[in-house]
Amino acid sequence: MTFTARHLLGLEGMSREEILYILDTATSFREISEREIKKVPTLRGKTVIGFFYEASTRTRMSFEIAAKRMSADFISLSAGGSSVSKGETLLDTARNLAAMRPDGIILRHPSAGAPHFLAQRVDCPIINAGDGAHEHPTQALLDLLTIREHRGTLDGLKIAIVGDILHSRVARSNLHALRALGAEVRLVGPPTLLPRELRAWAEVTHDLAEGVRDTDVVMTLRIQRERQGANFFPSLDEYARYFCLTQSALRGAKPGVLIMHPGPINRGIEIASDVADGPYSVIMEQVTNGVALRMAVLFLLINRSREADMPEIEAAPEPALHRKAG
Ligand code: CP
Repeated sequence: MTFTARHLLGLEGMSREEILYILDTATSFREISEREIKKVPTLRGKTVIGFFYEASTRTRMSFEIAAKRMSADFISLSAGGSSVSKGETLLDTARNLAAMRPDGIILRHPSAGAPHFLAQRVDCPIINAGDGAHEHPTQALLDLLTIREHRGTLDGLKIAIVGDILHSRVARSNLHALRALGAEVRLVGPPTLLPRELRAWAEVTHDLAEGVRDTDVVMTLRIQRERQGANFFPSLDEYARYFCLTQSALRGAKPGVLIMHPGPINRGIEIASDVADGPYSVIMEQVTNGVALRMAVLFLLINRSREADMPEIEAAPEPALHRKAG
């Protein structure tokens, strides 16, 4: 397979073959982080800009670590420390960054569609690191990588996504990718946090015990108070009483159910500490896999002469989406 995608903007519409190709590439990079000298020359001479309009720990750090482990120069810019604070627009900022000839820009932005807007106007690969409540493709891909490492396949798995689905870009990206890989998705949360448009694509329930019954994987989501302009539930205590993932709530899940959370965690609200830190939790593995997955994404999008370095991966049809216009 020749991976010709120019940008990584989202997982909606991405083919099974493209997703598996990214996961296979990430798997081949995983062992670099286990070496004593965690550095390869693959992206030497390349410059990557991380532009974060919103707070981030995991995504920002793992992109930076991924770039540096591949010998790229990583320059980090936050909205507060840039001329955005003086009123400069996203487009003007991005044009000025692009004029410095980076090889890729990673963007996190509170507005859905911001990375797509840039991708049409700036001549370098754009990677979506989370746009509003729309998509967070690298988070979903690292989630898939983690599940596949434990279960071998996503095909036929029953996966519950629990919590604030309405405001979750992680839920949207996961829903697209899990369905493309043949998993059965169940959305669980209060009616006010389950958007109508997603009900066509997944089973929906407002009962936590019913939602986790017979599942192979339970993904819990953070309650995003900063995006909630209205009261979607009476109080955090009330939310936790019905939707906090506890040991007893998990009783009906399959033995060895995987417990996931993209972070950051609100302990005792969406997930109990003994579940988050318990034997079935793979939350820290998700974080570890974030580095390998982001190495793969940088490699596939930025290393245009990569064919010579490609790991052996089974041939698959060419990707249909996100190619550079023209
Ligand atoms: N999961 C995730 O996106 O975490 P950060 O907001 O810390 O990057």
